[in-house]
Amino acid sequence: MERTLAICKPDAVRKNVVGEIVAMMTQAGFKVLGLKMIRLSKEQAGAFYAVHKERPFYGELVDFMCSGAVVVIALEKTNAVADYRTLIGATDPAEAAEGTIRKRFASSKGENAAHGSDSVENGRNEVAFFFSEAEIAANTL
Ligand code: RTP
Ligand code: MG
Repeated sequence: MERTLAICKPDAVRKNVVGEIVAMMTQAGFKVLGLKMIRLSKEQAGAFYAVHKERPFYGELVDFMCSGAVVVIALEKTNAVADYRTLIGATDPAEAAEGTIRKRFASSKGENAAHGSDSVENGRNEVAFFFSEAEIAANTL
């Protein structure tokens, strides 16, 4: 079993499509280990996307991620990381495949509805960034 971290970004929360996105996850066979709505601070969003610190879009990305509530979701499945990346689709919705979360709900490359961890190691670390083991354990007993 593998873990991955999903985020419904502020644009998806504003569009009121969190329920539809979670339904796509569960229909694709993911188990929801943890789920919560939070408002990220600049520090949290900056730390979460620190890998992009030198990229030109970093400031805009951090501001966007703090612009409203997000829903963070810890998912579990065999091959969770790669399978969830397939389910969300390409970063730019113009390039995302039919039936993917970003094709259905993203507005632009920046405001693209969903985040997904990009490696097995990052999946573990990003779940731990938002959820304690005690919170996860509530749904693994
Ligand atoms: P994410 O980390 O959010 O799942 O997205 P990703 O792997 O598909 O894309 P990544 O390269 O990690 O970029 C992180 C997020 O930064 C914003 N972005 N904007 N304007 C731009 O050119 C641009 N490029 C990236 C997007 O919100 C992207 O999801
Ligand atoms: Mg990424």
